[in-house]
Amino acid sequence: MNGNVIVGQSGGPTAVINSSLAGVFRTAIDRGAKTVYGMRYGIQGLLDEMYVDLSDYIKNELDVEILKRTPSAFLGTCRYKLPAIHENQDIYVKIFEILDKLEIECFIYIGGNDSMDTIKKLSDYAILTGKSQKFVGVPKTIDNDLALTDHTPGFGSAAKYIATSIKEVIRDGNGFSYQKQLVTIIEIMGRNAGWLTGAAALAKGEDCEGVDLIYLPEVPFDTQNFIEEVRDLLKTKSTVFIAISEGIRLADGTYVSEAGGGSDYVDAFGHKQLTGSATYLANLINHEIGCKTRAVEFSSLQRSASHLASRVDINEAFMVGGAAVKAADEGDTGKMVVIDRVSDDPYQSATGVYDVHKIANGEKTVPREWITEKGDYVTDDFIDYVRPLIQGDYPCVMVNGLPRHLYLK
Ligand code: F6P
Repeated sequence: MNGNVIVGQSGGPTAVINSSLAGVFRTAIDRGAKTVYGMRYGIQGLLDEMYVDLSDYIKNELDVEILKRTPSAFLGTCRYKLPAIHENQDIYVKIFEILDKLEIECFIYIGGNDSMDTIKKLSDYAILTGKSQKFVGVPKTIDNDLALTDHTPGFGSAAKYIATSIKEVIRDGNGFSYQKQLVTIIEIMGRNAGWLTGAAALAKGEDCEGVDLIYLPEVPFDTQNFIEEVRDLLKTKSTVFIAISEGIRLADGTYVSEAGGGSDYVDAFGHKQLTGSATYLANLINHEIGCKTRAVEFSSLQRSASHLASRVDINEAFMVGGAAVKAADEGDTGKMVVIDRVSDDPYQSATGVYDVHKIANGEKTVPREWITEKGDYVTDDFIDYVRPLIQGDYPCVMVNGLPRHLYLK
């Protein structure tokens, strides 16, 4: 490589997004990049010429190791939708002026389905106008909803955090089981895909009964049926634990979170902020059945829990970052790196690259056959798919009793 590399982070962060950043940095330097720039706040910050030289922050191997363990987007992130090329060429002219000025050869963007829209548009524009820069995406999202990749970095660690925390929540609730009835509803992120909510099933094992019901967005939610299922469960047990996706919807398409008041906030890609479903349903159960209820919304904790990251996930996140630089350096553009599962036992994976046009803006949901017929739990096939992704840990670098993170002021 003769020129420079620029890398950005975009969309909702994960516990391992910076491991991908570390992978990009390491491979770019190994392949001879003179400078590895980091966009501050993704493409939105780049438009305001906000970028840093990453070697000012990643100075040695310890920094690389700490970066791999640092949650949330080290460089800052954005949810910014580029206009269609024919709608506003000026914005593209500006971006390419900045890339030319910085002598960028490879543009790497770490993100989910919305962020891959940026790779798609920039690579299309470069080809249309004869620009030489290569554009490659690095998959990232706790939602695990990207097409053509077996799974996405960030999902495994969020799944591990969710299963662990649910085991702890169940312990907490069961401590009182002799004294009172308690229904606990746990709300999990993932928008219109139930991958992460399904991971709640991993809590069940020799030392934990697990959750009683799991509701995914892939199956319409029937409120009356839900109340009756809970009522039935309370006939034989005093504590009931239920995992719901933030994206569960009624048969008419209304999000349960909207039914409960929710939030009016809509992002640049038209996604509503989904929040408050657990509180709504907990209040409903309390009103209808009269027992004590508790709502737990993991919210941002589930995507930033690097203290509980999966080793498989951290390593794969690093691997896809490096693979993106390699692909771009070897001439690929308009592509996203994917993870292919090579074997389950022992678990092994490899990287490939796919046309980003087939990935951007799409949503891969949980196949119906991996959800029970009644639509209130996941099948063993689902559990077998997720379990390898939560394996191993990646101990934090502890300083003064707390995990140390790499910090960009
Ligand atoms: O896409 C990742 C994700 O964490 C979703 O699971 C969630 O719905 C969304 O981001 C929340 O986004 P924000 O933090 O911008 O509200």
